Amino acid sequence: MRTNTGQIVHLEDYRPTDFVLERVDLTFELDPRETKVEARLIFHRREGVSPSAPLVLDGDELTMTGLLLDQVDIPAALYEATDEALIIRGLPETAPFEITITTVLSPETNTKLMGLYRTSNVYCTQCEAEGFRRITYFPDRPDVLAVYTVNIIADKAAAPLLLSNGNYLGGADMGDGRHFASWFDPHPKPSYLFALVAGDLGVVEDRFTTASGREVALKIYVEHGKEPRAAYAMDALKRAMKWDEEVFGREYDLDIFMIVAVSDFNMGAMENKGLNVFNDKYVLADPETATDTDYANIEAIIAHEYFHNWTGNRITCRDWFQLCLKEGLTVYRDHEFSADMRSRTVKRIAEVRHLKSEQFPEDAGPLAHPVRPTKYREINNFYTTTVYEKGSEVTRMIATILGRDLFKKGMDLYFERHDGQAVTIEDFVACFEAASGRDLAQFSLWYHQAGTPLVTASGSYDAGKQTYTLSLEQSVPPTPEQSAKAPMHIPLRLGLLLEDGTEATPTAVSGADITGDVLHLTERKQTVVFSGIPSRPVPSFNRGFSAPINLHFEQGARDRALIARHETDLFARWQALNTMALDNLVKAAAEARRGQPLTCDDALIDGLLAAAAEDRLEPAFRSQVLSLPSEADIAREIGSNNDPDAIQAGRQAVLAAIAAAGSNTFAQLVDRMSLSGPFRPDAESAGRRALRNAALSYVVYADDRPEKATNAFRAANNMTDLSHALTLLAHRFPDADETVDALASFKKRFADNALVIDKWFAIQATIPGAATLDRVRALMSDPLFNANNPNRVRSLVGTFAFANATGFNRADGEGYRFLAHQILDIDARNPQLAARILTSMRSWRSLEKVRSGHARSALEGIAGAANLSADVSDIVERMLK
Ligand code: PHE
Ligand code: ZN
Repeated sequence: MRTNTGQIVHLEDYRPTDFVLERVDLTFELDPRETKVEARLIFHRREGVSPSAPLVLDGDELTMTGLLLDQVDIPAALYEATDEALIIRGLPETAPFEITITTVLSPETNTKLMGLYRTSNVYCTQCEAEGFRRITYFPDRPDVLAVYTVNIIADKAAAPLLLSNGNYLGGADMGDGRHFASWFDPHPKPSYLFALVAGDLGVVEDRFTTASGREVALKIYVEHGKEPRAAYAMDALKRAMKWDEEVFGREYDLDIFMIVAVSDFNMGAMENKGLNVFNDKYVLADPETATDTDYANIEAIIAHEYFHNWTGNRITCRDWFQLCLKEGLTVYRDHEFSADMRSRTVKRIAEVRHLKSEQFPEDAGPLAHPVRPTKYREINNFYTTTVYEKGSEVTRMIATILGRDLFKKGMDLYFERHDGQAVTIEDFVACFEAASGRDLAQFSLWYHQAGTPLVTASGSYDAGKQTYTLSLEQSVPPTPEQSAKAPMHIPLRLGLLLEDGTEATPTAVSGADITGDVLHLTERKQTVVFSGIPSRPVPSFNRGFSAPINLHFEQGARDRALIARHETDLFARWQALNTMALDNLVKAAAEARRGQPLTCDDALIDGLLAAAAEDRLEPAFRSQVLSLPSEADIAREIGSNNDPDAIQAGRQAVLAAIAAAGSNTFAQLVDRMSLSGPFRPDAESAGRRALRNAALSYVVYADDRPEKATNAFRAANNMTDLSHALTLLAHRFPDADETVDALASFKKRFADNALVIDKWFAIQATIPGAATLDRVRALMSDPLFNANNPNRVRSLVGTFAFANATGFNRADGEGYRFLAHQILDIDARNPQLAARILTSMRSWRSLEKVRSGHARSALEGIAGAANLSADVSDIVERMLK
């Protein structure tokens, strides 16, 4: 039996609050077990609201010890405090009034990591989405904007540092071992952007002068001794600040910008006004302990949170249905930033890989929902890849449709029109319509219709008429609660390549609007005729992945190879090879399933090796070419009745064929891509390491002894190379003495660095095969594991469930039973974390029937458990529907 069912919230029920909040004054007396919070809130009744309407404030697990109206006790008959709300009656009809609420909290026992909690002896808050109501009763919704003053009192020795949003007002010693500090944030903000941090931390300081000459103090707070590892984050922050001025015309607006790194955090990071709080994994880096991917993630997430200052904070969401208003847009902004800092093509490839491996499965399964949903039971479960990544793609499509200048004009209008407001997706889209004069009504379906559109294309060439005819048909698959779908506006970038590799320039096009190379698909079926095409063309679809769709077009290996060699759009070159590889991997999986001999096409091998050896292409791009679609990618392409063991067997056969055919190329690349001199984390050096390691994987794959991987492990002088070598050893030779030794030496060397130990857990959790479950179980009793720390749980349990197709999807169902047990265990402490990890089973229906039967039983076991949180019960019920 569930105890927490959670109410369903509907977008159509939105209405503004009855009372307007004018000011917020908070005083915290911090104590690990008994923190006292006094909240003074000034309200007035909104015009037109009934004089008898009560004030209704949100709450969650609160203990209230005082309640005053204009400094006088409110009689018990005039208020009611329930588990979820405080309702006060008899309030003034028009005059402003002050409500003073005193609550007592226990940060130390707050294991949900929402509201005020403790992490490594530091007091820290997390309020998005609905954590502020765990601090005090409050109108805890994003359309209530107010100016905050915050006073913090704490023991001076335990918490020398007292931080909150905005600018520092002052502070003093209180003479009794305690001290206080006051902060004032002049920018009206919703409660989800409130933050408080107090404790004993080290700091890295710098400064930034904005375009208009404002001096901003920059501070990154980390655990003492870790200051040198924050240098890269600081560098990324300054680059992000400058970039936002240059590209979006956005300046920072306070005297100080602070980032605090904490080791217990449910998400990646949080954009609290002027006081970002980060999972330390996205702040701390040095060559010895961070990989190139870690550096790239830090750069992107530091930028993402900083960019929220305008897209999220200055302009925020009217309600949580509008989450993509801030998240989709801010992801788009951080993608553009990284593209400018690094290689645009390689960044785009990484984005598309991520979108397809995370968002496409979500959109194709039981958890599918629109980018702008219309109902939810637990908002924490809507911080999804659909809201974030598909939301970003939708913003990108607006830029593609409007073109650079009109997109910029629309963004400028958005900032001008809505600064200081809490708005909706409709408000956002209206700015681009106003700026461009275009009607984006059909385009807006991208926000409202869930599911990945499928475009099916076929072409025919008429040599006599010199015309090429493309027949295009679009459909959007049914998703939960949306069976019928209308045709979408799909901006499809397209090129027609001729046999010699040049691009055809049609003399006329009929049947679709085309601007530049963007073909606008708007009908369910469209026939597009290109005239003046001198010979049979090879169409290259969805350049730059201009639309987040699946595209089916029968295209032979020769044509794909032509695209891979000649496309001017480099992304399309990668896409051609990747699609060729995927076709092959699907075929090999089918062969493995039928017990037939496994085959790999020569055209694929030739294409991959040619690109790998092509020195005119940048190394990072070539490494992307060499990295084959994952087992999950193959499963998604097959779609149903999946057997992960067959998929893996097929993939290994393809890998082996490429490794054997390319042994010379790969050996040479390992040599030629080696770097000398001190480690540098820049994109170019990272690209060389990536190509070298991709080649090394094939070299190790072609050999049945662990020597080469062992040597690489010994020779590594940075974490990228070291963790890659350890992965090769563990995944290819899990039980070899060399692997046992390497795992032990790695553990010993990094035992005091939890973030590196997370890699050690993850590498072992992803060892292919059924035996890994026992290994994961054993690792859970390792002293370095900590079931209360989200990063540890994610790297061991989460990685096993999300990224070990054969280990997790054991045919006997043990993997699912293990996960179900873990979910219930985690849920009792941290529901948000439990619900997130449970989404690893979102594609369970696409498994063959023995496995899907086991998966269903495991999910039913969770659904029937006692005391389930709203978070987990929401996910499990949607997955079983
Ligand atoms: N708003 C954060 C971001 O994407 C994510 C987050 C959501 C963090 C909820 C904590 C809680 O930048
Ligand atoms: Zn965000």
